[in-house]
Amino acid sequence: MQRLLYAFLLPISQGLVSIGSGVSAWEVKNDKAYGWTGCGLGQDIRRLVQDGAPSANLIGLDSTEEFINLGFELFDDRSRLGCTFIVQDFFEDTPQLDNLVGRVKVINSSYFMHLFDWDTQLRVAKRMMRLAFQEKGALITGFNFGSHSPRDWDMVPPGLPPQYLHDQRSLASLWGLAARETRMSWSFRSVVEYDENCSILDPEGCRLGWVAELV
Ligand SMILES: C[S@@+](CC[C@H](N)C(=O)[O-])C[C@H]1O[C@@H](n2cnc3c(N)ncnc32)[C@H](O)[C@@H]1O
Repeated sequence: MQRLLYAFLLPISQGLVSIGSGVSAWEVKNDKAYGWTGCGLGQDIRRLVQDGAPSANLIGLDSTEEFINLGFELFDDRSRLGCTFIVQDFFEDTPQLDNLVGRVKVINSSYFMHLFDWDTQLRVAKRMMRLAFQEKGALITGFNFGSHSPRDWDMVPPGLPPQYLHDQRSLASLWGLAARETRMSWSFRSVVEYDENCSILDPEGCRLGWVAELV
């Protein structure tokens, strides 16, 4: 149980390397923004800073200010971290978010998209595509709590909105649709990984790592 509770603290950007498009500290360039949607405590952002990435380029967004504050408490780095944290609903158009449109070289969206139903996930994908730096090679990466049998999840905890769990095919088709609707050309690939925590949440559960790349 302890392990499940703290599993979210595992640095996940490390895992992205396994699908060939990880962001490592040395790739973070001074003139580009790198963003996290639903960053939670921001452990991944800190991992990159720890590895030497320039923190001024890193931006975390989350609707729950308490998580961001907890991250500062946990890592005890409020006065020195130097990253930007935006507290807002990702679906809201705000001056802060508008200012990032077309500017974010790599967007990470880990354990975020699966929190929503299919249509809302489509909105998320299109909003992230809009934020992405409009040049070949821009990346949107993430991890989903996925399922070997894609469906509207029937075990959503009470009080939470409906969630759609993807397998590789359904997630690829959602990204394909988002690309068509935004008239952009993105390649998409994903990997299925065993994750004990996902299996505990659902017998068909798995972890889906994915990367969309502007081509
Ligand atoms: C499961 S947690 C994942 C946190 C982090 N990415 C990680 O992997 O540890 C999902 C996060 O998404 C945030 N979130 C949920 N809905 C959101 C929304 N509409 N806009 C911004 N953040 C949201 C939650 O507050 C939470 O921190």
